[in-house]
Amino acid sequence: MTALTLSTAAAAGLRADAIVVGIAKGAAGPVVAPGAEAVDKAYDGKLASVLETLGATGAEGEVTKVPAPSGFKAPVVLAVGLGSEPEKDEIYEADALRRAAGVASRALSGSKKAAFALPVEDAEDAGAIAEGALLGAYSFDAYKDMAAKGSDPKSDAKAPLAEIALLGGKPRDKAFKAEIERALALAEELNRARDLINTPPNDLNPEAFAAVATAAGKEHGLKVQVLDVKALEKGGYGGILGVGAGSAAGPRLVKISYSAGRGKKHLAYVGKGITYDSGGISLKPAGHNETMKCDMAGAAAVFAAVVTAARLKLDVNVTGWLALAENMPSGSATRPGDVLRMYSGKTVEVLNTDAEGRLVLADAIAKASEETPDAIVDVATLTGAMVLALGNRTFGIMANDEAFRTSIHEVAEEVGEPSWPMPLPAHLVKGMDSPTADIANMGERMGGGLVAGLFLKEFVGEGITWAHLDIAGPAFNEGGPFGYTPKGGTGSAVRTLVRLAERTAAGDLG
Ligand code: BES
Ligand code: MN
Ligand code: ZN
Repeated sequence: MTALTLSTAAAAGLRADAIVVGIAKGAAGPVVAPGAEAVDKAYDGKLASVLETLGATGAEGEVTKVPAPSGFKAPVVLAVGLGSEPEKDEIYEADALRRAAGVASRALSGSKKAAFALPVEDAEDAGAIAEGALLGAYSFDAYKDMAAKGSDPKSDAKAPLAEIALLGGKPRDKAFKAEIERALALAEELNRARDLINTPPNDLNPEAFAAVATAAGKEHGLKVQVLDVKALEKGGYGGILGVGAGSAAGPRLVKISYSAGRGKKHLAYVGKGITYDSGGISLKPAGHNETMKCDMAGAAAVFAAVVTAARLKLDVNVTGWLALAENMPSGSATRPGDVLRMYSGKTVEVLNTDAEGRLVLADAIAKASEETPDAIVDVATLTGAMVLALGNRTFGIMANDEAFRTSIHEVAEEVGEPSWPMPLPAHLVKGMDSPTADIANMGERMGGGLVAGLFLKEFVGEGITWAHLDIAGPAFNEGGPFGYTPKGGTGSAVRTLVRLAERTAAGDLG
């Protein structure tokens, strides 16, 4: 993990591979952002025009490198675009800082150390820059021969930036310290979630994921309970067992709990953890299978959020439920037409074995409901329909409580995660009628993401506030990296879940 500290050193004297400064799009060309005054002065106040000569505009995502001024120990100044300059008396948005810091980190992969001289108005800005820088400093190279790659100049496999000195903050100030601690813990756990998502499914099956959770529980003093196949059979978890029935690697239900103490609010987070989704007997066609190792991204997000809550010692109880199974076709697999008896007692006719996420989640949601938490939030790469509706970067929010849905949307906005509220139209429930069982796992094709949400709603305990985040779009980035988001597993929803826990602890929500 990349090291990060607040520093009051002057940029000129810093032994580093690069000094990062911000530039923005001004009315008449690029302008140097606050935080880089000393650097600009060393160029006789001409840094903006030097950068403009090189084609820089200040646009978001833009990176321009110039030789450092004489007298600087670092050889290079790297200017990162912040987008439009804020209006007079306004400051840079936290997520603009976060994204720019992420871009700079990515541009500096392969380097040892960099100093970031970006605009810092308050502790929150320092936290955002730290978070973006640490999330941008990510690579998944566990399966690459880095030694061989390092010697190949054409290779793009480089180790992440190793060390960051963040300038412009107050290292002794309590609020600054807390923001940096928070960013370090959050980024480490979020990057671990990305690792889990990126790990090939032959190495991360339900048992292996459960072992990772058990180990993390030991490390951070969390209580972890793992229900194996025998325990699931004894408990009557027909949904989880039905989905896992075709795989040689049996399913698991993991409960990982952080306890802040009696009498505090209690959040239950439930994650879809399909370690591989082949579709089962309703096999996915070629072209739809290749990235389905990402189908446990909801469970990875829940896991990371609970561990982060524990590391930050938040004043709220958070229970994570990881519904883990591998969805495979085989002689023992659930068939389209089978009826499952779920944990809640309801029966479900499985019309399509590729609609498996709702089956494992239904059992976990029903189980989580028994503890009557103040709210349940489930997170799942649930439907292709949600990707069609909202695209690759935005997750959908559904809920049985409009105020709660709005709160989650606001929390997501605050941390820079694009999301959008979606409805749960009651008339779509009828489409899931089954001639044989209480309900079918499929309904109308139109509005498929909402149908899946309505299915889950049937398993939420009476009177419990519940929301469902469908992260099928943003969970896995098949395109190029952007901002602080890498290719592959993104860690979608982790920051929303952590902030929701923080807000709940602070009493800001219901
Ligand atoms: N894991 C998929 C959803 C998915 C699609 C995740 C694209 C990430 C990217 C889910 O299990 C699935 O297969 N859903 C089906 C449901 C359908 C059979 C009702 C879908 O969306 O097609
Ligand atoms: Mn599926
Ligand atoms: Zn799936």
